[in-house]
Amino acid sequence: MFSKWAKRIVAAAFVLAVGWWLFSGEDDERLFASALTEADYLQPTPLIVNPRGRDTVSLNGPWNIIIDPQDRGLPTRALGLTLPGFFENLQDTGPMELVEYRFDESEKLQVPGDWNTQREDLFWYKERVWYQRYFDVARQDTQSYHLYFGAAHYEAHVAVNGVYAGTHKGGFTPFNLDVTDLLVDGQNSVVVSVSSKLNHGTVPTANTDWFNYGGLTRDVMLVSTPSIFIQDYEVTLLDEVTKDIRVAIDLNQPLRDVPVSVKIAELNADISMTTDRDGHAEARLTAPNAMLWSPETPNLYDVTLETGGAEIQDRIGLRTIRVEGDRILLNGQPVFLRGMSAHEETTTRYGRNATPDDGKAVLSLIKELGGNYVRLAHYPHNAHTVKLADEMGLMVWSEIPVYWDVDWHDTGSLADARNQLEEMITRDRNRASVITWSIGNETPNSDARLSFMENLADHARAVDSTRPVSAALVGDEVGQQLGQAIAVRALTSDDTPEATKQAIREFLGPLNSWLLDQALAWEIIDPQAPIIIELEDPLGDSVDIVGINEYIGWYYAAFLSPVFDIPEAELREQMFELTPNITLRNAYGKPLVISETGAGAVAGRRDADMSIWSEDYQAKVYERQIEMLQNSDQLAGLSPWIIKDFRSAMRPLNGVQDFWNRKGLVSETGERKAAFHVLKAYYQGLAASEAAQSEPPQNANDELE
Ligand code: GCU
Repeated sequence: MFSKWAKRIVAAAFVLAVGWWLFSGEDDERLFASALTEADYLQPTPLIVNPRGRDTVSLNGPWNIIIDPQDRGLPTRALGLTLPGFFENLQDTGPMELVEYRFDESEKLQVPGDWNTQREDLFWYKERVWYQRYFDVARQDTQSYHLYFGAAHYEAHVAVNGVYAGTHKGGFTPFNLDVTDLLVDGQNSVVVSVSSKLNHGTVPTANTDWFNYGGLTRDVMLVSTPSIFIQDYEVTLLDEVTKDIRVAIDLNQPLRDVPVSVKIAELNADISMTTDRDGHAEARLTAPNAMLWSPETPNLYDVTLETGGAEIQDRIGLRTIRVEGDRILLNGQPVFLRGMSAHEETTTRYGRNATPDDGKAVLSLIKELGGNYVRLAHYPHNAHTVKLADEMGLMVWSEIPVYWDVDWHDTGSLADARNQLEEMITRDRNRASVITWSIGNETPNSDARLSFMENLADHARAVDSTRPVSAALVGDEVGQQLGQAIAVRALTSDDTPEATKQAIREFLGPLNSWLLDQALAWEIIDPQAPIIIELEDPLGDSVDIVGINEYIGWYYAAFLSPVFDIPEAELREQMFELTPNITLRNAYGKPLVISETGAGAVAGRRDADMSIWSEDYQAKVYERQIEMLQNSDQLAGLSPWIIKDFRSAMRPLNGVQDFWNRKGLVSETGERKAAFHVLKAYYQGLAASEAAQSEPPQNANDELE
């Protein structure tokens, strides 16, 4: 019927049609173009506060993994097709199906836990790992289901039963995804792709003095709630005298007239409220007998919140915190922060802290020092650790990792920083131990940086108006003003070699050198006068508590020696002589916290000659620092750097550091160094004198009896 040619034309047309259908679509410039870009990301659902106090099933334990250094598992477009990648979690593929991955029977990693210290071949790994596990759900139509991650460092994509569910950026704050519509009754599969890649656009950037641990580093759980539930809540003491308390809740939906209740049995409080059209409800109560939370009396109240039959259990401390002048007031009384800085590493294991016991080991060291405070640097630590601080009586400086050289001009970086700030605050707003939100650490002064940081300070106050905002500043002024003091002393000392004086004058330049001579001649500058170092960083004007990271006795001698052509050993000796003569201040009349100071030491290395890296040298730096800090009337506390040696890729010095930052007061295995005992004596002395002052006044009769 058809001519041969007609058949050929039809056949050719068919082949072309199939070819077109298969390989149509826009021209992909790359053979494997990403089919999951930032524009495709599904954002996490609003954070659920206190998941552990709700109906929760843990998904901790061994997860199947696939290591993916080239991102091959991500959804891609190839030859006009969209390939779903590992999210699909294909199983039981038949003998004729080409599938080049399989989670079943794969290697495993423990969750929670970084991958770096679980496998030697992953120690330096900073790319992508895929996690997968199955979990059973007895699905109820009245319930909503949320996958909750304590943290995933740094970026995580999640899929449930083969369907992409959402993405989170930021390695130290929690996130949850509503997976109600993706779950089936019975066995479900979750796949999580975690990449620990950092770059100039991430927060933090790749340039950090701490180890880049990657993975599902914190708890994973499935939270069940009614479809309408209490998303967020706060119980806050408004006034330490009247004992007025504010209780507020927010539902997950803007629904009015929903009944909610809050009970605090020990305070005889049983409050019933109904929500407004925004799903918000709040009430005031007065608890004249409430025992306020403090480091000395870390009292917590059992709080039960309920709506729709679903209860939430929490333990919340009641206290006020505010700044007045250059004082920090806890429950209306000036408080002095006797603390230490801590990274999220512990003495009982290697790697990122993962369990409550990990955090407890670190906080117990600070309690042993006689401390009442901890700076959780440089990022929000595990929720366990902050809850332990509530229970153990340690005030907390909680910080987002806006660290060193973030890209101040990148709106994406600002959005990520704001998001991490909000997640940190939302997670811990009911933790009495948290007394300040820190918006960053050692950010170099510039207009763009100041604008970025002021934006964060405003956002912190908008999300939580009850706590002071802080930042740890690097204070270039310290090095400069210290250098000036050393130059003046060297130029006016007969012991200084002429060549050194010449080098200093060359550094100062002819004009400054001449001006200095006039100032000395007219006795405007007295070489022996106390050294006042005033911090003028404009960010100090935007925060409530001014933190300063100063390393007098450690870094500055190394920086100034080549400048002044003075041997470093001589400058270190001068630093030790100068330190007790220095007063640190900020130009804003605000509380000053020494957010970092310290020196490195190898545990067990002793040297009466005070060579650096010896415990003796580190102890002497602490002795001199303690003497110096008595001079500062603005001083409201200190958190020296750092409680424990910690891993850092920036610290390679073999035989001394071996990729550990050795400024800890204890080694990575908990060996106390000499400086531990120096600081302990100081803190215990402060604590004893505070206790004596707070003793009720003994009247004369008592003493006679
Ligand atoms: C800086 C920085 C820390 C760092 C410390 C050090 O102040 O804030 O993150 O580890 O100095 O040099 O050890």
